[in-house]
Amino acid sequence: MTTADNGATFDVLVVGCGFMGSALARAFAGSGLSVAAWNRTSERAEALSEAGVVAVSDLAAAVQGTDLVVVCMASYDNVYSAMESIDTWRGNLIVNLTTATPEQSDSFARWAAARGIEALDGSIFNYPFEVGTPDAYLVYSGPLSAWMRGKSVLELLGPSRHVSSSPGSSSELMLGMVAYLVPAISSVVEATTYLARRGMPREVLLGVADYLTESLKKAMRGAVDAIERDEQDTDQATLENFAESVESALVAFAAEGLNPRLLRATEDTLMAARDLGLGERGIFAQTKVL
Ligand SMILES: NC(=O)c1ccc[n+]([C@@H]2O[C@H](COP(=O)([O-])OP(=O)(O)OC[C@H]3O[C@@H](n4cnc5c(N)ncnc54)[C@H](OP(=O)(O)O)[C@@H]3O)[C@@H](O)[C@H]2O)c1
Repeated sequence: MTTADNGATFDVLVVGCGFMGSALARAFAGSGLSVAAWNRTSERAEALSEAGVVAVSDLAAAVQGTDLVVVCMASYDNVYSAMESIDTWRGNLIVNLTTATPEQSDSFARWAAARGIEALDGSIFNYPFEVGTPDAYLVYSGPLSAWMRGKSVLELLGPSRHVSSSPGSSSELMLGMVAYLVPAISSVVEATTYLARRGMPREVLLGVADYLTESLKKAMRGAVDAIERDEQDTDQATLENFAESVESALVAFAAEGLNPRLLRATEDTLMAARDLGLGERGIFAQTKVL
């Protein structure tokens, strides 16, 4: 393993060289920064040498030579266990891009403050291959002073936003959006499986899908307004209309021998709202049964 010389200095130290951490290190190095990288399994850090990244084995020494530490690991337990080897900090700025709960982010901010470190919590909404391109999307939360300190380097990873001074905000945003994105992707799989079984031509399917993707953008704005204002009346389509279409879809999927679990969960939610007397309201009224 290439070990940084004692006293070596770097613009940024990346801790954790999995799929995402490796992409972060490559993007920093590709922007002309001097980059050190540490990983539990040293081979993954060493593999970054072709991108000009220096693999380091002594994390405590690397922290002394680098102001900005960017951490991206599988879990916060991994983060704390990696940091255990560091007795002395030099007032670093540590940016933790490990996915977390808001509580974990708050605890990490306290852990950092106790060591005289400025901390930012971040969430990454893109895939590793999009890091360092305009297609990336990263959000950060934590003290504004920490954001201002790291901003110019962090923006090299792609479009980046500081959303709040509250440490847990970026985690809240990520986990809330997980509830949107992951079921949305799973529902794409359900819909596509049914339509492929029915022999729907690819270009027809994709044409309607493109149109509906735009509808989904409008739905997000509509939901935000309806929930913020607590107004779920409609003159367009009632919750009952949606429930009936879901029931029909379930019949069609069953006839094809399919068991669309996500669609059934959607039916459950709509039925619960209908049972509460919300059938004549708009679809966003299902917020009342969460
Ligand atoms: N991949 C994505 O598309 C994506 C998108 C957005 C956010 N993220 C977030 O980015 C973070 C990293 O994800 P990833 O995709 O890079 O995962 P990954 O490829 O599985 O890498 C996991 C990293 O955590 C380290 N690690 C795991 N267990 C460890 C332990 N017990 N002690 C020390 N280190 C340990 C791994 O080290 P070893 O190599 O030694 O195992 C590796 O550096 C996660 O929080 C994830 O939610 C990922």
